[in-house]
Amino acid sequence: MNELDHQLEKILITEDEIKKKVQELADEIDTAFPPGEEIIMICILRGAVVFMADLARCLERQVTFDFMDVSSYGSGTVTSGVVRIIKDLEEDISGKNVLIVEDIIDTGLTLKYVVKVLKTRKPARLKVVTLLDKPERRVTEFKADFNGFAIPDMFVVGYGLDYAQKYRNLPYIAVLKASVYS
Ligand code: PRP
Repeated sequence: MNELDHQLEKILITEDEIKKKVQELADEIDTAFPPGEEIIMICILRGAVVFMADLARCLERQVTFDFMDVSSYGSGTVTSGVVRIIKDLEEDISGKNVLIVEDIIDTGLTLKYVVKVLKTRKPARLKVVTLLDKPERRVTEFKADFNGFAIPDMFVVGYGLDYAQKYRNLPYIAVLKASVYS
């Protein structure tokens, strides 16, 4: 990724810090759900793919994967405020343990909507984990059950997070230079 370094302001969260946090979150999640019971992990595409893959491998139980694609942003940096389901779940979640896996909570609009929709399907338990949270950006009240890092309102990329679909494969979270997106 060296050819991209000039586009990054700084590394905000290192690979080691992420690894440690993911294990801590997995431990919290294992404690919060009934011992031994399976969990359906729901990845909110596309940003949460990397986090979910690592988190799943830290959980000490059987899990299954499902995926949901919900639009909140266009290709730029500004939230549209519009939320709609582009791809719905494949599985029936009624009576199941469900964990929504998200990479970042910004305005809170996406998760507020997803939780509302999934609750109507009567899961036994529905919990939310997010790796990153930008509390300053909230326009609606929303709090995840398990939170990785609270970060300031900076444009971050890496570990699943993109700018114009790029940078998702960085193993760390970095701040993008304003000159790249402005
Ligand atoms: C990001 C992120 C969340 C959402 C959070 O997804 O992954 O799903 O925005 O924003 P909110 O709290 O303001 O609703 P994005 O729409 O950028 O898609 P991506 O995951 O495919 O990058």
